[in-house]
Amino acid sequence: MSTNDANVAQATSAADSKTPLLFTPIKLRSVVVRNRIMAAPMCQYVSHDGGPTEWQLVNFGRFAMGGAGIVFGEETAVEAPGRKTHHCAGLYNDAHVTQYRRINDFIRSLGATPAIQLGHCGRRASAHGPLQDRAPLTEADAKVGLIPWQGIAPSPIPASPGGALPREMDHDDIRKNIQLWREAAKRSLDAGYDICEIHGAHGYLIHQFLSPVSNRRTDGYGGSLEGRMRFALEITEAVRAAWPADMPLFFRISSIDGTGGEWGMDDSLALSRELKARGVDVVDCSSGGITGDGKLAPLPRVPGFQAGYAREIKEEVGVATAAVGMITEPSHAEALLRDGHADIIAMARELMDNPNWPLQAARALGVKEPLDLVHAREAQRLRLREQHRKDYPPGMAIEIPFGPNDVVPYSWEDLSPGKRARH
Ligand SMILES: Cc1cc2nc3c(=O)[nH]c(=O)nc-3n(C[C@H](O)[C@H](O)[C@H](O)COP(=O)(O)O)c2cc1C
Repeated sequence: MSTNDANVAQATSAADSKTPLLFTPIKLRSVVVRNRIMAAPMCQYVSHDGGPTEWQLVNFGRFAMGGAGIVFGEETAVEAPGRKTHHCAGLYNDAHVTQYRRINDFIRSLGATPAIQLGHCGRRASAHGPLQDRAPLTEADAKVGLIPWQGIAPSPIPASPGGALPREMDHDDIRKNIQLWREAAKRSLDAGYDICEIHGAHGYLIHQFLSPVSNRRTDGYGGSLEGRMRFALEITEAVRAAWPADMPLFFRISSIDGTGGEWGMDDSLALSRELKARGVDVVDCSSGGITGDGKLAPLPRVPGFQAGYAREIKEEVGVATAAVGMITEPSHAEALLRDGHADIIAMARELMDNPNWPLQAARALGVKEPLDLVHAREAQRLRLREQHRKDYPPGMAIEIPFGPNDVVPYSWEDLSPGKRARH
Protein backbone atom coordinates (compact mmCIF):
# COMPACT_ATOMS: atom_id res chain seq x y z
CA MET A 1 0.00 0.00 0.00
CA SER A 2 1.15 3.50 -0.67
CA THR A 3 1.02 6.10 2.08
CA ASN A 4 -2.41 7.29 1.07
CA ASP A 5 -5.32 5.04 1.96
CA ALA A 6 -7.30 2.47 0.06
CA ASN A 7 -7.84 5.02 -2.70
CA VAL A 8 -4.25 4.71 -3.92
CA ALA A 9 -2.63 1.31 -4.05
CA GLN A 10 -0.02 -0.61 -5.93
CA ALA A 11 -1.76 -2.93 -8.31
CA THR A 12 0.61 -5.63 -7.04
CA SER A 13 -1.17 -8.52 -8.65
CA ALA A 14 -0.07 -7.20 -12.02
CA ALA A 15 3.57 -6.89 -11.07
CA ASP A 16 6.23 -9.21 -9.73
CA SER A 17 8.82 -8.11 -7.19
CA LYS A 18 11.43 -7.66 -9.90
CA THR A 19 9.33 -5.12 -11.78
CA PRO A 20 10.81 -1.65 -11.30
CA LEU A 21 8.48 0.56 -9.29
CA LEU A 22 8.27 2.97 -12.23
CA PHE A 23 6.58 0.18 -14.19
CA THR A 24 4.43 -1.20 -11.38
CA PRO A 25 0.80 -0.32 -12.10
CA ILE A 26 -0.86 2.00 -9.63
CA LYS A 27 -4.51 1.84 -8.60
CA LEU A 28 -6.17 5.21 -8.08
CA ARG A 29 -9.66 4.54 -6.76
CA SER A 30 -11.11 2.29 -9.50
CA VAL A 31 -8.62 3.37 -12.17
CA VAL A 32 -5.58 1.17 -12.75
CA VAL A 33 -2.75 3.02 -14.48
CA ARG A 34 -0.22 0.86 -16.31
CA ASN A 35 2.87 2.58 -14.88
CA ARG A 36 3.99 5.58 -12.80
CA ILE A 37 5.05 7.81 -15.68
CA MET A 38 2.81 10.84 -16.13
CA ALA A 39 2.95 13.20 -19.09
CA ALA A 40 2.57 16.47 -17.17
CA PRO A 41 0.09 19.13 -18.35
CA MET A 42 1.50 21.36 -21.07
CA CYS A 43 -0.34 24.36 -22.51
CA GLN A 44 -0.20 24.34 -26.29
CA TYR A 45 -1.71 27.71 -27.27
CA VAL A 46 -3.22 26.27 -30.46
CA SER A 47 -6.88 25.82 -29.54
CA HIS A 48 -9.72 27.24 -31.65
CA ASP A 49 -12.38 28.86 -29.49
CA GLY A 50 -11.11 26.71 -26.63
CA GLY A 51 -11.42 23.44 -28.56
CA PRO A 52 -8.51 21.15 -29.45
CA THR A 53 -7.11 20.74 -32.96
CA GLU A 54 -5.15 18.02 -34.74
CA TRP A 55 -2.12 19.30 -32.85
CA GLN A 56 -3.45 18.04 -29.52
CA LEU A 57 -4.42 14.68 -30.98
CA VAL A 58 -0.91 14.12 -32.27
CA ASN A 59 0.95 15.78 -29.43
CA PHE A 60 -0.83 14.05 -26.55
CA GLY A 61 -1.34 10.90 -28.61
CA ARG A 62 2.42 10.48 -29.02
CA PHE A 63 2.88 10.31 -25.24
CA ALA A 64 0.36 7.47 -25.09
CA MET A 65 2.06 5.72 -28.03
CA GLY A 66 5.41 6.03 -26.27
CA GLY A 67 4.15 4.19 -23.19
CA ALA A 68 3.33 6.86 -20.57
CA GLY A 69 0.82 5.72 -17.93
CA ILE A 70 -1.09 8.96 -17.38
CA VAL A 71 -1.42 11.39 -20.26
CA PHE A 72 -2.44 14.91 -19.35
CA GLY A 73 -3.38 17.45 -21.93
CA GLU A 74 -3.00 21.04 -20.90
CA GLU A 75 -4.48 23.54 -18.51
CA THR A 76 -8.09 23.66 -19.70
CA ALA A 77 -10.13 26.67 -18.68
CA VAL A 78 -13.51 26.32 -17.02
CA GLU A 79 -14.75 29.43 -18.87
CA ALA A 80 -13.60 31.41 -21.91
CA PRO A 81 -12.41 34.43 -19.88
CA GLY A 82 -10.38 32.05 -17.71
CA ARG A 83 -7.94 31.50 -20.58
CA LYS A 84 -4.60 33.30 -20.74
CA THR A 85 -4.78 33.82 -24.49
CA HIS A 86 -7.36 33.52 -27.25
CA HIS A 87 -5.63 30.26 -28.19
CA CYS A 88 -5.67 28.54 -24.80
CA ALA A 89 -7.74 25.42 -24.22
CA GLY A 90 -11.13 25.32 -22.53
CA LEU A 91 -13.93 22.92 -21.69
CA TYR A 92 -16.91 25.20 -21.32
CA ASN A 93 -19.38 24.02 -23.95
CA ASP A 94 -20.76 20.78 -25.28
CA ALA A 95 -18.91 21.00 -28.61
CA HIS A 96 -15.67 20.75 -26.65
CA VAL A 97 -16.86 17.51 -25.07
CA THR A 98 -17.04 15.76 -28.46
CA GLN A 99 -13.70 17.19 -29.55
CA TYR A 100 -11.83 15.98 -26.45
CA ARG A 101 -13.58 12.63 -26.47
CA ARG A 102 -12.00 11.77 -29.81
CA ILE A 103 -8.54 12.40 -28.37
CA ASN A 104 -9.25 10.53 -25.15
CA ASP A 105 -10.64 7.49 -26.95
CA PHE A 106 -7.41 7.37 -28.92
CA ILE A 107 -5.23 7.72 -25.81
CA ARG A 108 -7.17 4.99 -24.01
CA SER A 109 -6.98 2.68 -27.03
CA LEU A 110 -3.19 2.81 -26.59
CA GLY A 111 -3.37 1.63 -22.97
CA ALA A 112 -2.78 5.03 -21.35
CA THR A 113 -5.05 6.90 -18.94
CA PRO A 114 -6.34 10.27 -20.21
CA ALA A 115 -6.28 13.08 -17.64
CA ILE A 116 -7.51 16.66 -17.64
CA GLN A 117 -6.18 19.65 -15.75
CA LEU A 118 -8.96 22.16 -15.13
CA GLY A 119 -7.89 25.73 -14.55
CA HIS A 120 -8.70 29.40 -14.49
CA CYS A 121 -5.98 31.95 -15.07
CA GLY A 122 -7.63 34.79 -13.10
CA ARG A 123 -5.54 37.94 -13.36
CA ARG A 124 -3.24 36.44 -15.99
CA ALA A 125 -5.97 36.69 -18.62
CA SER A 126 -5.90 38.49 -21.96
CA ALA A 127 -2.26 38.08 -22.90
CA HIS A 128 0.00 37.23 -25.80
CA GLY A 129 1.32 33.68 -25.95
CA PRO A 130 4.85 32.55 -25.09
CA LEU A 131 6.12 32.86 -28.67
CA GLN A 132 5.43 36.55 -28.38
CA ASP A 133 6.07 38.38 -25.12
CA ARG A 134 3.20 37.19 -22.86
CA ALA A 135 2.36 40.90 -22.47
CA PRO A 136 -1.29 42.02 -22.06
CA LEU A 137 -3.37 42.41 -25.23
CA THR A 138 -3.85 45.98 -26.40
CA GLU A 139 -6.10 47.94 -28.76
CA ALA A 140 -3.62 47.09 -31.53
CA ASP A 141 -4.44 43.41 -30.98
CA ALA A 142 -8.16 44.21 -31.01
CA LYS A 143 -7.76 45.51 -34.58
CA VAL A 144 -6.71 42.01 -35.68
CA GLY A 145 -9.55 40.32 -33.82
CA LEU A 146 -7.76 39.59 -30.54
CA ILE A 147 -10.06 41.60 -28.30
CA PRO A 148 -8.64 42.21 -24.81
CA TRP A 149 -10.73 41.39 -21.75
CA GLN A 150 -10.37 42.05 -18.05
CA GLY A 151 -9.14 39.29 -15.76
CA ILE A 152 -10.53 38.56 -12.31
CA ALA A 153 -8.61 38.10 -9.09
CA PRO A 154 -8.97 37.99 -5.32
CA SER A 155 -7.55 41.53 -5.17
CA PRO A 156 -7.04 44.25 -7.79
CA ILE A 157 -3.30 43.67 -8.19
CA PRO A 158 -1.74 43.12 -11.64
CA ALA A 159 0.14 39.86 -12.25
CA SER A 160 3.34 41.82 -12.82
CA PRO A 161 4.39 45.43 -12.49
CA GLY A 162 2.69 47.53 -15.16
CA GLY A 163 0.38 44.64 -16.09
CA ALA A 164 -3.38 44.84 -16.65
CA LEU A 165 -5.50 45.55 -13.57
CA PRO A 166 -7.82 42.64 -12.73
CA ARG A 167 -11.31 43.10 -11.28
CA GLU A 168 -11.67 42.08 -7.65
CA MET A 169 -14.12 39.20 -7.32
CA ASP A 170 -17.14 39.72 -5.09
CA HIS A 171 -19.02 36.88 -3.38
CA ASP A 172 -21.35 36.45 -6.33
CA ASP A 173 -18.34 36.07 -8.67
CA ILE A 174 -16.86 33.48 -6.33
CA ARG A 175 -20.08 31.50 -6.18
CA LYS A 176 -20.44 31.56 -9.97
CA ASN A 177 -16.80 30.62 -10.45
CA ILE A 178 -17.14 27.55 -8.24
CA GLN A 179 -20.19 26.55 -10.27
CA LEU A 180 -18.06 26.72 -13.45
CA TRP A 181 -15.59 24.20 -12.00
CA ARG A 182 -18.46 21.91 -11.10
CA GLU A 183 -19.83 22.05 -14.65
CA ALA A 184 -16.39 21.55 -16.19
CA ALA A 185 -15.83 18.47 -14.02
CA LYS A 186 -19.08 16.98 -15.33
CA ARG A 187 -18.06 17.75 -18.91
CA SER A 188 -14.66 16.14 -18.25
CA LEU A 189 -16.42 12.91 -17.44
CA ASP A 190 -18.54 13.12 -20.59
CA ALA A 191 -15.39 13.84 -22.58
CA GLY A 192 -13.90 10.53 -21.45
CA TYR A 193 -11.25 11.58 -18.96
CA ASP A 194 -10.33 9.12 -16.19
CA ILE A 195 -8.42 11.54 -13.96
CA CYS A 196 -9.30 15.12 -13.13
CA GLU A 197 -6.76 17.60 -11.74
CA ILE A 198 -7.49 21.01 -10.26
CA HIS A 199 -4.80 23.50 -11.23
CA GLY A 200 -4.03 25.29 -7.99
CA ALA A 201 -0.48 26.30 -8.95
CA HIS A 202 1.66 28.58 -11.10
CA GLY A 203 0.12 31.90 -10.18
CA TYR A 204 -3.33 31.19 -11.63
CA LEU A 205 -6.62 31.99 -9.94
CA ILE A 206 -6.56 29.43 -7.11
CA HIS A 207 -2.92 30.18 -6.31
CA GLN A 208 -3.80 33.90 -6.43
CA PHE A 209 -6.25 33.27 -3.59
CA LEU A 210 -3.76 31.12 -1.64
CA SER A 211 -0.80 33.47 -1.64
CA PRO A 212 -0.70 36.72 0.35
CA VAL A 213 1.35 38.10 -2.57
CA SER A 214 -1.89 38.37 -4.56
CA ASN A 215 -4.63 38.04 -1.94
CA ARG A 216 -5.13 41.15 0.20
CA ARG A 217 -8.80 40.52 0.96
CA THR A 218 -10.21 41.26 4.35
CA ASP A 219 -13.34 39.10 4.01
CA GLY A 220 -13.70 35.35 4.62
CA TYR A 221 -11.68 34.54 1.46
CA GLY A 222 -8.53 36.33 2.58
CA GLY A 223 -6.44 37.23 5.57
CA SER A 224 -5.62 34.10 7.55
CA LEU A 225 -4.36 30.90 5.94
CA GLU A 226 -7.80 29.44 6.51
CA GLY A 227 -9.41 32.34 4.67
CA ARG A 228 -6.98 32.20 1.75
CA MET A 229 -7.49 28.42 1.41
CA ARG A 230 -11.27 28.70 1.40
CA PHE A 231 -11.69 29.29 -2.36
CA ALA A 232 -9.41 26.32 -3.21
CA LEU A 233 -11.26 24.06 -0.79
CA GLU A 234 -14.73 25.07 -1.96
CA ILE A 235 -13.70 24.36 -5.55
CA THR A 236 -12.28 21.00 -4.45
CA GLU A 237 -15.54 20.12 -2.71
CA ALA A 238 -17.56 21.11 -5.79
CA VAL A 239 -15.36 19.16 -8.19
CA ARG A 240 -15.19 16.13 -5.91
CA ALA A 241 -19.00 16.09 -5.71
CA ALA A 242 -19.38 16.36 -9.50
CA TRP A 243 -16.57 13.92 -10.33
CA PRO A 244 -17.51 10.25 -9.73
CA ALA A 245 -16.60 8.85 -6.32
CA ASP A 246 -14.71 5.95 -7.89
CA MET A 247 -12.50 8.19 -10.02
CA PRO A 248 -9.28 9.91 -8.92
CA LEU A 249 -8.89 13.60 -8.27
CA PHE A 250 -5.48 15.32 -8.35
CA PHE A 251 -4.59 18.82 -7.20
CA ARG A 252 -1.52 20.65 -8.49
CA ILE A 253 0.05 23.02 -6.01
CA SER A 254 2.85 25.50 -6.10
CA SER A 255 4.54 24.07 -3.03
CA ILE A 256 6.19 27.45 -2.52
CA ASP A 257 5.64 30.79 -4.25
CA GLY A 258 9.31 30.95 -5.14
CA THR A 259 12.45 32.20 -3.47
CA GLY A 260 11.35 35.12 -1.30
CA GLY A 261 7.63 34.41 -1.74
CA GLU A 262 5.00 34.35 0.98
CA TRP A 263 3.43 30.91 0.50
CA GLY A 264 5.73 28.16 1.82
CA MET A 265 5.88 24.48 2.66
CA ASP A 266 4.12 24.81 6.01
CA ASP A 267 1.17 26.31 4.12
CA SER A 268 1.33 23.52 1.53
CA LEU A 269 1.26 20.89 4.26
CA ALA A 270 -1.83 22.51 5.78
CA LEU A 271 -3.49 22.75 2.37
CA SER A 272 -2.63 19.14 1.50
CA ARG A 273 -4.20 17.92 4.76
CA GLU A 274 -7.42 19.74 3.88
CA LEU A 275 -7.32 18.48 0.29
CA LYS A 276 -6.86 14.90 1.46
CA ALA A 277 -9.80 15.28 3.84
CA ARG A 278 -11.90 16.40 0.87
CA GLY A 279 -11.05 13.39 -1.27
CA VAL A 280 -8.01 14.52 -3.25
CA ASP A 281 -6.00 11.41 -4.09
CA VAL A 282 -2.75 12.86 -5.41
CA VAL A 283 -1.03 16.16 -4.66
CA ASP A 284 1.02 17.11 -7.71
CA CYS A 285 3.93 19.13 -6.35
CA SER A 286 5.15 21.95 -8.54
CA SER A 287 6.22 25.47 -7.50
CA GLY A 288 6.39 29.12 -8.48
CA GLY A 289 4.38 31.29 -10.85
CA ILE A 290 3.25 34.12 -8.59
CA THR A 291 5.19 36.88 -10.22
CA GLY A 292 4.34 39.51 -7.60
CA ASP A 293 6.56 42.52 -7.86
CA GLY A 294 8.83 40.63 -10.21
CA LYS A 295 11.49 40.14 -7.56
CA LEU A 296 10.81 36.45 -6.86
CA ALA A 297 13.83 34.48 -8.04
CA PRO A 298 13.19 31.14 -9.75
CA LEU A 299 14.35 27.94 -8.07
CA PRO A 300 17.58 26.35 -9.29
CA ARG A 301 16.43 24.10 -12.13
CA VAL A 302 18.48 21.02 -11.23
CA PRO A 303 17.31 17.40 -11.62
CA GLY A 304 14.45 16.67 -9.23
CA PHE A 305 14.54 20.18 -7.77
CA GLN A 306 10.92 19.95 -6.56
CA ALA A 307 10.99 16.31 -5.41
CA GLY A 308 11.71 17.30 -1.79
CA TYR A 309 8.31 19.01 -1.66
CA ALA A 310 6.58 15.84 -2.85
CA ARG A 311 8.44 13.81 -0.26
CA GLU A 312 7.57 16.07 2.67
CA ILE A 313 3.87 16.16 1.74
CA LYS A 314 3.76 12.40 1.23
CA GLU A 315 5.47 11.75 4.55
CA GLU A 316 3.77 14.37 6.70
CA VAL A 317 0.26 14.22 5.27
CA GLY A 318 0.10 10.61 4.15
CA VAL A 319 -1.28 11.51 0.75
CA ALA A 320 0.10 10.22 -2.54
CA THR A 321 2.22 12.71 -4.47
CA ALA A 322 3.56 13.32 -7.95
CA ALA A 323 7.12 14.65 -8.32
CA VAL A 324 7.91 16.85 -11.30
CA GLY A 325 10.76 18.96 -12.60
CA MET A 326 13.88 18.06 -14.56
CA ILE A 327 13.49 14.33 -14.09
CA THR A 328 15.02 12.80 -17.18
CA GLU A 329 16.96 9.66 -16.18
CA PRO A 330 15.20 6.30 -15.67
CA SER A 331 17.41 5.44 -12.67
CA HIS A 332 16.60 8.82 -11.07
CA ALA A 333 12.86 8.34 -11.60
CA GLU A 334 13.06 4.85 -10.12
CA ALA A 335 15.12 6.04 -7.13
CA LEU A 336 12.61 8.81 -6.36
CA LEU A 337 9.84 6.22 -6.15
CA ARG A 338 11.92 3.67 -4.22
CA ASP A 339 13.11 6.29 -1.72
CA GLY A 340 9.53 7.34 -1.06
CA HIS A 341 9.66 10.81 -2.57
CA ALA A 342 6.53 10.27 -4.63
CA ASP A 343 4.10 7.75 -6.08
CA ILE A 344 4.10 9.14 -9.61
CA ILE A 345 6.82 10.72 -11.75
CA ALA A 346 5.58 13.57 -13.92
CA MET A 347 7.57 14.69 -16.93
CA ALA A 348 6.99 17.46 -19.42
CA ARG A 349 9.94 18.54 -21.57
CA GLU A 350 11.72 15.18 -21.55
CA LEU A 351 8.66 13.58 -23.12
CA MET A 352 8.46 16.45 -25.58
CA ASP A 353 12.07 15.68 -26.48
CA ASN A 354 11.59 11.94 -26.48
CA PRO A 355 8.00 10.65 -26.44
CA ASN A 356 9.29 7.05 -26.41
CA TRP A 357 11.11 7.69 -23.12
CA PRO A 358 8.91 5.17 -21.25
CA LEU A 359 9.84 2.38 -23.66
CA GLN A 360 13.51 3.25 -23.41
CA ALA A 361 13.31 3.55 -19.62
CA ALA A 362 11.65 0.13 -19.46
CA ARG A 363 14.59 -1.35 -21.37
CA ALA A 364 17.12 0.51 -19.22
CA LEU A 365 15.50 -0.70 -15.98
CA GLY A 366 15.30 -4.31 -17.16
CA VAL A 367 11.53 -4.66 -17.55
CA LYS A 368 10.79 -8.17 -18.82
CA GLU A 369 8.72 -7.31 -21.87
CA PRO A 370 9.32 -3.61 -22.55
CA LEU A 371 7.62 -3.80 -25.92
CA ASP A 372 4.32 -4.57 -24.21
CA LEU A 373 4.21 -0.82 -23.62
CA VAL A 374 3.70 0.05 -27.26
CA HIS A 375 0.92 -0.92 -29.65
CA ALA A 376 1.05 -4.49 -30.96
CA ARG A 377 1.50 -3.11 -34.47
CA GLU A 378 4.79 -1.53 -33.46
CA ALA A 379 5.80 -4.19 -30.95
CA GLN A 380 5.62 -6.91 -33.59
CA ARG A 381 8.01 -5.07 -35.89
CA LEU A 382 10.37 -4.10 -33.12
CA ARG A 383 10.47 -7.69 -31.82
CA LEU A 384 11.36 -8.83 -35.31
CA ARG A 385 14.23 -6.37 -35.29
CA GLU A 386 15.40 -7.78 -31.95
CA GLN A 387 15.31 -11.25 -33.49
CA HIS A 388 17.48 -10.02 -36.37
CA ARG A 389 20.00 -8.85 -33.82
CA LYS A 390 20.05 -12.26 -32.14
CA ASP A 391 20.27 -14.13 -35.43
CA TYR A 392 23.23 -12.11 -36.61
CA PRO A 393 25.48 -11.48 -33.61
CA PRO A 394 28.48 -9.17 -33.89
CA GLY A 395 31.44 -10.76 -35.63
CA MET A 396 29.38 -13.28 -37.54
CA ALA A 397 30.77 -13.90 -41.01
CA ILE A 398 28.07 -13.11 -43.50
CA GLU A 399 27.70 -12.56 -47.20
CA ILE A 400 25.34 -10.20 -49.00
CA PRO A 401 24.03 -11.42 -52.33
CA PHE A 402 24.39 -8.98 -55.22
CA GLY A 403 22.97 -11.33 -57.85
CA PRO A 404 22.09 -14.99 -58.50
CA ASN A 405 25.74 -16.14 -58.35
CA ASP A 406 27.31 -13.15 -56.82
CA VAL A 407 27.92 -12.79 -53.05
CA VAL A 408 30.06 -10.31 -51.24
CA PRO A 409 31.49 -10.73 -47.73
CA TYR A 410 30.21 -8.12 -45.40
CA SER A 411 31.33 -6.92 -42.02
CA TRP A 412 28.69 -4.86 -40.37
CA GLU A 413 30.77 -4.65 -37.24
CA ASP A 414 33.10 -2.07 -38.75
CA LEU A 415 30.29 -0.90 -41.01
CA SER A 416 32.22 -1.66 -44.17
CA PRO A 417 30.01 -3.00 -46.89
CA GLY A 418 32.08 -5.37 -48.99
CA LYS A 419 32.84 -4.34 -52.54
CA ARG A 420 31.88 -6.48 -55.48
CA ALA A 421 34.79 -7.50 -57.70
CA ARG A 422 33.77 -5.88 -61.04
CA HIS A 423 34.98 -7.55 -64.27
C1 LIG B 1 5.20 23.90 -22.98
C2 LIG B 1 4.84 23.78 -21.53
C3 LIG B 1 3.57 24.06 -21.11
C4 LIG B 1 3.21 23.90 -19.77
N1 LIG B 1 1.90 24.08 -19.40
C5 LIG B 1 1.51 23.73 -18.16
C6 LIG B 1 0.14 23.66 -17.84
O1 LIG B 1 -0.74 23.85 -18.68
N2 LIG B 1 -0.20 23.36 -16.56
C7 LIG B 1 0.75 23.06 -15.62
O2 LIG B 1 0.41 22.81 -14.46
N3 LIG B 1 2.05 23.09 -15.92
C8 LIG B 1 2.45 23.37 -17.16
N4 LIG B 1 3.77 23.30 -17.49
C9 LIG B 1 4.73 22.84 -16.49
C10 LIG B 1 5.00 21.34 -16.61
O3 LIG B 1 3.83 20.58 -16.36
C11 LIG B 1 6.13 20.88 -15.67
O4 LIG B 1 5.70 21.05 -14.35
C12 LIG B 1 7.41 21.63 -15.90
O5 LIG B 1 7.71 21.77 -17.27
C13 LIG B 1 8.58 20.97 -15.19
O6 LIG B 1 8.75 19.65 -15.65
P1 LIG B 1 9.89 19.24 -16.74
O7 LIG B 1 11.22 19.66 -16.19
O8 LIG B 1 9.76 17.74 -16.85
O9 LIG B 1 9.58 19.94 -18.02
C14 LIG B 1 4.16 23.49 -18.82
C15 LIG B 1 5.47 23.23 -19.24
C16 LIG B 1 5.81 23.35 -20.57
C17 LIG B 1 7.21 23.01 -21.00
